[in-house]
Amino acid sequence: MESIVTASNAAPEVIEESPLDVEAPRATDEVVVLDYGGQYSQLIARRVRECGVFSELLPHHVGVDEVRKRRPKGLILSGGPASVYAENAPRLDPELLDLGVPVLGICYGMQAIVLTLGGRVEGAEVGEFGRSQLTVSEPGRLLAGTPAEQRCWMSHRDTVFEAPPGFTALARSTESPVAAIEDVERGIYGIQFHPEVVHTPYGQQILTTFLEDVAGCERTWSPESIIDEQIARIRAQVGDAKVICGLSGGVDSSVAALLVHRAIGDQLTCVFVDHGLMRHNEGDQVISAFRDTFKVPLVAVDAEDRFLRRLAGLSDPEAKRKAIGAEFIRVFEEEARRLGDAKFLVQGTLYSDVIESGGGTGAATIKSHHNVGGLPDDLEFELVEPLRALFKDEVRAVGAELGLPERLVWRQPFPGPGLAIRIVGGEATKERLDTLRACDAILQDEIRKAGLYRELWQSFCVLPDIRTVGVQGDERTYGYVVAIRAVTSDDAMTADWARLPYDLLEQIASRMINEVREVNRVVLDITSKPPGTIEWE
Ligand code: XMP
Repeated sequence: MESIVTASNAAPEVIEESPLDVEAPRATDEVVVLDYGGQYSQLIARRVRECGVFSELLPHHVGVDEVRKRRPKGLILSGGPASVYAENAPRLDPELLDLGVPVLGICYGMQAIVLTLGGRVEGAEVGEFGRSQLTVSEPGRLLAGTPAEQRCWMSHRDTVFEAPPGFTALARSTESPVAAIEDVERGIYGIQFHPEVVHTPYGQQILTTFLEDVAGCERTWSPESIIDEQIARIRAQVGDAKVICGLSGGVDSSVAALLVHRAIGDQLTCVFVDHGLMRHNEGDQVISAFRDTFKVPLVAVDAEDRFLRRLAGLSDPEAKRKAIGAEFIRVFEEEARRLGDAKFLVQGTLYSDVIESGGGTGAATIKSHHNVGGLPDDLEFELVEPLRALFKDEVRAVGAELGLPERLVWRQPFPGPGLAIRIVGGEATKERLDTLRACDAILQDEIRKAGLYRELWQSFCVLPDIRTVGVQGDERTYGYVVAIRAVTSDDAMTADWARLPYDLLEQIASRMINEVREVNRVVLDITSKPPGTIEWE
């Protein structure tokens, strides 16, 4: 979501034939998480990686061979929304239990195991949602080292009443007679609660027990190992060919570029297109970090005039997006041609893009319009995608390890079309962009000073194409109204409006009105997503 040519904008069509393939690292152990459609499935995979073990999230229907191919050290079956008794409920292929590696079923995953192996699961009168109390009667192998009484997080209606033959029931909870089971001999484990959420205080410990003690995984997945692995891969892929990379200033393209530069040095050229729709000073920051600090060959194109000409007369949001996307490709292609013989193009595609395009969760459709302006099919480059196996937090960790300045590592997401889609209901002229940029700089400055920047998913200003009446210095004014938008979110799919302190809001508003002549009114957007979107258009 940060630029047209980079990472999160990768349109599904540029992701190759086997969308699920992320080329797992060679040197690290892997655990496969099979996704039964649970809300927290991605989180399970992230938690496994936080334990230092590489994990992939695959849709539950991929088939045993896909799983076997990865030679996992363990298998985790996620939760899911279905009742095991529903007609279309995803079934557990019993072969998965005989791969010769330990299996951990979580919530639906555990129920599916119980049902398959002859235990008793039933739809209960009362569900169990939210906080619950777990009473451990027999810690066994899985719950070893955790207290007899502990809190846990539940989200289920079907309930396990009896463990399958050969299993030990380890614990019960407020509403579940059987909340954890194991058969150490067969290497099959199950927990009804969600170890991956923070509301289960011993969750991470239980996952670690499964990964280390049960599955025997080595904890070698780390920013350093990712960097080493990727450098080797990039070198092998690229040989001595030339490579180009579109830099946007966002963390994804920055980290991708730095990794490639580490691997092949000056065979890489970065292209930074300044479309004049960036925030105050952000273009200079990118140029100085890459050209001056990292000494990466960088072509910076000042294309503000071209973009403004393309945007003239356009007020419809999609028309703006299309114009910007088309112009971006034109500028980028011109530069690529100038560089001559580049064979590869770096894309900062992330693992979440891979999962979404692989049909894992099917949750991505709302965002499709953001791909407008993605790279066309006929660009004649092979792709280098060094972040394809990484979650966003891993990208940041790798960036920090590579020495990327904190400001770039932690930059909030910024849309490819930039400030143009924050001038709402009107044309993005130079004068309006400058007004918006000045207000936005004040907002960013105050939010950083208040120490809130990292807590917010995004914070920005919107400039609607309307004017309101005011009175300043005894004179009537007729100026722009600026809206402040600040949200918290985990993934932009949903968001909550941020409760910024009143004093901070007052400081921001009065600075905007005092320092930006064209503005005489400031308002606060208090809409969450849904029903609102994060951007206004
Ligand atoms: P919405 O407004 O749909 O935005 O709630 C969700 C996330 O996507 C970003 N966004 C875009 N990113 N090109 C992008 O690269 C776009 O056209 C675009 N529109 C929205 C938005 O900033 C938020 O992070």
